[in-house]
Amino acid sequence: MKIFVDTAEIDEIKEANSWGILDGVTTNPSLIKKAVKKRENINMEDYIKEICKAVDGPVSLEVIGSNRDEMVAQAELLYDKFNPVNNNVVVKVPINTSSPETTAGKYEGLKALKDLSSKGIPTNTTLIMKPAQALLAAKAGTQYVSPFAGRIDDFIRNNVGLTRGEDYPKSAYHDGDWIRHASYLKLKPRYENLEGDDLAGIYFDEEVNKVKESISDEGIYTGAAVVSSINRIFSNYELDTAVLAASLRNSRQVREVAEAGADVSTIPFHVLEEMIDHYKTEQGVINFSEDVVPEYEGIFR
Ligand code: G3P
Repeated sequence: MKIFVDTAEIDEIKEANSWGILDGVTTNPSLIKKAVKKRENINMEDYIKEICKAVDGPVSLEVIGSNRDEMVAQAELLYDKFNPVNNNVVVKVPINTSSPETTAGKYEGLKALKDLSSKGIPTNTTLIMKPAQALLAAKAGTQYVSPFAGRIDDFIRNNVGLTRGEDYPKSAYHDGDWIRHASYLKLKPRYENLEGDDLAGIYFDEEVNKVKESISDEGIYTGAAVVSSINRIFSNYELDTAVLAASLRNSRQVREVAEAGADVSTIPFHVLEEMIDHYKTEQGVINFSEDVVPEYEGIFR
């Protein structure tokens, strides 16, 4: 699996690159906003050029338009301006730019992807929330699809009445255990006193199954499951679009999308840091250093 860092912070990109594990970078308008906030009088063009130079691998830069013509023109501009720097620009295009106010952008992402594919501009289709969207993007000729695993988990948890920031922190792991989550939907009295075989019966309880369906996102219960489903679909039809797991919130989720066969994971810097940590590793380092005998130390002198 390739590892991209999901950040527009140049220091984070350079640091992750220095570890020897970095294959690329993804940015988006929110990440750029965060980076700009920390700086005064930033020259955006120079700053993006610096990002492109910092890694020898794809750098995703996102368009901001909402219709095909705007998005294609912006993609061409991003590509012409920044690809010459290190030959590594990939343009991020949202799968669907409709909003609660208008559905006008519903198919514009797809159309833009198709146009950019025929122009030879590589694309990363962003804001993928379900496998069907990924299939359409692949058919339109995109190079990468980015399922937003963490946001899908948020959506499922929202369906059971949990709110991020109030009921759980952004980094919390979601295991898709719908029975446990169902308890939040006041189903608890139906099964809280059950045990053993009686408890197993809950899986056949009509009420519980109704709730189970209402919690799911078209039959899917976790972001990692979306990644796994897209991966299966692309393998079935030998589609060569890469699955780029995005919106990853913790080390366990990275492991799950890797198990699901993601071609790439784009990982926030703090999650990359979390991936290396383990208490027992630290303890092991201490134990080994305590056990070094002078005879062994001698061979290093
Ligand atoms: O790669 C997409 C990512 O930046 C979105 O992450 O945590 O805001 O859902 P998040």
